[in-house]
Amino acid sequence: MSLKGKHIVLGITGSIAAYKSAILTRLLIKKGAELQIVITAAGKEFITPVTLSALSGRPVISEFFATGDGTWHSHVDLGLWADLMLIAPATASTLGKMVSGIADNMLITTYLSMKAPVFVAPAMDLDMFKHVTTQRNIIQLKSDGVMIIDPGVGELASHLEGKGRMEEPENIVKILEDYFKAEQGKTNREQDQTATEHNQSTNSLIEQDLLKKKVLITAGPTYEKIDPVRFIGNYSSGKMGFAIAEECAKRGAEVILVTGPTALSTTNPNIKRIDVESAKEMHNASINVFPQMDIAILSAAVADYRPNQQEDTKIKHNDNEDITIKLTPNPDIAAALGKIKKDNQIIVGFALETNNEENNALKKIEKKNFNFIVLNSLKDAGAGFGVDTNKVTIISKDGDKITFNLKSKSEVAKDIINTTLFNKTIKADIKNPNKLG
Ligand code: C5P
Repeated sequence: MSLKGKHIVLGITGSIAAYKSAILTRLLIKKGAELQIVITAAGKEFITPVTLSALSGRPVISEFFATGDGTWHSHVDLGLWADLMLIAPATASTLGKMVSGIADNMLITTYLSMKAPVFVAPAMDLDMFKHVTTQRNIIQLKSDGVMIIDPGVGELASHLEGKGRMEEPENIVKILEDYFKAEQGKTNREQDQTATEHNQSTNSLIEQDLLKKKVLITAGPTYEKIDPVRFIGNYSSGKMGFAIAEECAKRGAEVILVTGPTALSTTNPNIKRIDVESAKEMHNASINVFPQMDIAILSAAVADYRPNQQEDTKIKHNDNEDITIKLTPNPDIAAALGKIKKDNQIIVGFALETNNEENNALKKIEKKNFNFIVLNSLKDAGAGFGVDTNKVTIISKDGDKITFNLKSKSEVAKDIINTTLFNKTIKADIKNPNKLG
């Protein structure tokens, strides 16, 4: 019952994929959500309100007024009631109306009154999806703060193959669960910040300065297996990498997040998550996608060594004997990406040093072919593993450096992106960039 008590407005529009809305409704109800379905006139041509009201346990709303008694359906009340609005399937026409505010049906008036986050799962034929108008509308909706659940690739109702199939109901439910889980998991301080950001995103446009950019992010620890129940790991929580992934996605990027074991969830559907365990798995996943990326931000705390061999059975304990585990070096993912990096690609690495920090960081930039390195120091209270705050110094390959104050990891993520991808802080804000010698 991961969605227990969550109020969800489910908008359904006139696409053949509306048949999937019945399954979606069932899954959401099974997870404990309270559902109010709002369907367009065209939507009712594809699936009947009778089916939907039986599955959701509530009358379906379609018209502004109930026929017969003239009762008025309040889109304003729905906007206040909802914890989340999901439009699935969303047709090209509905996307266009959302962008322009053409409020000629109950669904769009509800959207315009919505105080909660809005998720949209488009469904249409591949040419309609590819059309410059649809793509422009999607870009605009993203910049309005709407979360787009990308359609899948496959056979379409037209029997053509391509991108345009509505995402499968199971995956949509997973995205909503992840969203609520991540919201729940935030500290009170971060919740306040998110509330401000959400208000900002509904009141003003989030700058989409990473639109069409593809970003690879590595995050979290790696686990190196010793035997079936033990591993060598580290204290990395993945919080810094996840904050960077959310910030990039919010600014329009397509993010691939390759993460080691962590309890964290992502909220933005523009983040494609690849879960791995060991450094070798992280290496393979990263090398595979890097050639298609514009940017790589490598925040993972990768184990430098792994056991030479992994036992098939649990190592037995013996009071009288020391045991030795022989270790072998792991692949250096950052160095491997640095080797194949093209001039138009940017790599931002991380360093956690305990001594001689800046010189070691500079050596690392050179060795791994980074454009920038983000240095966190273990000396600073509140910085480093597990905590929600961080204090970083960013050093460029030319030796420019800037040190930031202790901030929440989501604020640090903004500083990292502004500095490394837009030169905003290093070129514009620093009065005296401190050249390292
Ligand atoms: O050499 P060191 O581990 O300090 O380098 C840190 C940087 O290199 C980080 O960006 C980390 O994600 C990356 N790294 C890696 N693969 C390794 C070790 C480190 O990608 N095996």
